[in-house]
Amino acid sequence: MSDEKIFAISDLHVDQTENMQWVEQLSTNNYLNDTVIIAGDVTHVLSKLIRTLEIFKSKFKDVYYCPGNHELWTLSSREDEELHIDNSIEKFHYILETCENLGVHTKPGVTSQGITIVPLNGWYDDSLHMPMPSVTSDLQLWTDYYSCKWTSEVPQHLAAKYFTTLNEKYISSFKENRNNSKIITFSHFLTSKKLMKAYIDEMSLRRQKRLDSRKGTPYVEELKSGTMTANFSLVAGTELLNEQLNLIKPQVHIFGHSHRKMELDIDDGIRYINNPLGYVRERETGVIKSLPELYEINLNGK
Ligand SMILES: [Fe+2]
Ligand SMILES: [Fe+2]
Repeated sequence: MSDEKIFAISDLHVDQTENMQWVEQLSTNNYLNDTVIIAGDVTHVLSKLIRTLEIFKSKFKDVYYCPGNHELWTLSSREDEELHIDNSIEKFHYILETCENLGVHTKPGVTSQGITIVPLNGWYDDSLHMPMPSVTSDLQLWTDYYSCKWTSEVPQHLAAKYFTTLNEKYISSFKENRNNSKIITFSHFLTSKKLMKAYIDEMSLRRQKRLDSRKGTPYVEELKSGTMTANFSLVAGTELLNEQLNLIKPQVHIFGHSHRKMELDIDDGIRYINNPLGYVRERETGVIKSLPELYEINLNGK
């Protein structure tokens, strides 16, 4: 039997039929000895989320997953109503319970090759905010603002603190035995302002390249894609995750949410990787470039 491989993907958004078909067509034989990391944003529709996780479970030895922001949309879902899920916090815990029943990992685990995989729950706050003169900084432009329902104990502005606090009970164990261990962490959200800045710099570079190559207007393409209509940094992630990465010290961190395939190095010893499936229109307009595929994580280099 071949060595276990570890793959990563995020932002499956399987409420789009083509994306669900992509999941369904993944090989039923090639990955039976392998692990896959799914870094959030599968769908807000619980039945489709469960179906997707079941498909991955049938095709991979181990499945690691953390909910993204889309999973916590609850206000418009009839299914949530039927299950008496009243708010986003309840939905989050319902999803974690469901994963437990399905055998999907939402807690740290170790692969057969001794690699530790650590899911980091999160949300966003204003700690990554980078004001830009041409882009609106208004939370009301994001669907989360209307589709999530928070509670008096966990209002929206405390969501990042709430979800990252849930990670704490797993983190203390990494302080002692970090020397010999190979660790991969993953979160749906971006983990620091430094990562946010690296992402923005990479996007500017890509935009400039496209302008240079064909005198096009890539910014219009991005507007069409629907992911750059407001200041993303306001809803991107939280520095609270960075504090946790500093304690865990992984070699690789997988993130999602930003819907752009990229690898980033921000001089902190961690390789940051985003490998989204993304929306169909993002692939059609070319803002997500290469063919949709799982990303194989290689801890020994690029
Ligand atoms: Fe997404
Ligand atoms: Fe997201």
